[in-house]
Amino acid sequence: MIHGQRALLDADLEQVVGRLHSEETSVAPYREDYRRLLDNHGKMIRASLVLMFGRAQAGSSSEPFAPESPVVTGAAAIEMLHLATLVHDDVLDEADTRRGQPTVHTIHGNKVAIYLGDLILSRYMEIMASIAPTTSFIQEQASTVCEIVGGELLQESGRGNTSVSRNYYEHAIQGKTAALFRLACTTGVHLSVDSPAPELLAAAHDFGQHLGMAFQIIDDIGDFDVAHNSGKPKLEDIREQIYTLPVILGLESDPAFHKIVELRDPLKVLDYLQAHPQLIEGTKEAARQEISQAQQALESAPINPKVASILNALARKLAAQV
Ligand code: FPP
Ligand code: MG
Repeated sequence: MIHGQRALLDADLEQVVGRLHSEETSVAPYREDYRRLLDNHGKMIRASLVLMFGRAQAGSSSEPFAPESPVVTGAAAIEMLHLATLVHDDVLDEADTRRGQPTVHTIHGNKVAIYLGDLILSRYMEIMASIAPTTSFIQEQASTVCEIVGGELLQESGRGNTSVSRNYYEHAIQGKTAALFRLACTTGVHLSVDSPAPELLAAAHDFGQHLGMAFQIIDDIGDFDVAHNSGKPKLEDIREQIYTLPVILGLESDPAFHKIVELRDPLKVLDYLQAHPQLIEGTKEAARQEISQAQQALESAPINPKVASILNALARKLAAQV
């Protein structure tokens, strides 16, 4: 049963890839860069969430979505929003590569990278406006973009501050990451059902929210996992004085750790975390709790059981990383 759903999802993702590939810009000097950005998609988790929640209503069709269907278009647009944030993020983080390719700013400089990010963000808005079933759909899209930027800004406010709390961290990652996961899930429901049951929408909202929290916590653990090549640079957060959960747990429990963090030597912080495995373990536990809350959100929801199975499988796959 899950196998059938997986094949269906793969077929739908192919349509999203095609939709992204068909995007082009009229700004001739940067046409190739725009193309390269939109073709260099990652695992497309957010697009997958749009597609899966696009079938979440009980009794939904098991046929692949048509290429021009609002769910496929919306899934592509959500990926574009994600991509736009990454183009800006890579400028801010001075990252040289993304998904194995040189970042735009390393080729054309920061100005072009910011403009190209803006262009992708603007197209996301234009596409969503063209398929919006209601005004509140557009309001939700816009307010989520505000949340994402707010999360980044909050993270920035804590840079270098060894007094940041776990609560602060949770707010920051809720904005910068979980909000978009949540939006992907609710977007799938809104684009596929005219008047969704409030319980279905609540399940989409809560599943996306908790899965997104877990995703970012696991990503932050990965920054310290120097033995495992994830394709991303390591120790970036601590080098940039961004204190994520393992560090915050250490700061909260040991005044001596403040002095180590203030030395601004990433390897010394890594040594400390390796000597205090309970900090990574406590962080993993936080991720596991979020995953379990995501799964609970599906339990009593009026949701297509085949879709619930594949969403649960996705949650288990994430849980296997911690
Ligand atoms: C990756 O975080 C970045 C985000 C989750 C969000 C970035 C958002 C912005 C820069 C807001 C402004 C942009 C727009 C277009 C609204 P990370 O650096 O922890 O992850 P990484 O390791 O993948 O870089
Ligand atoms: Mg980054």
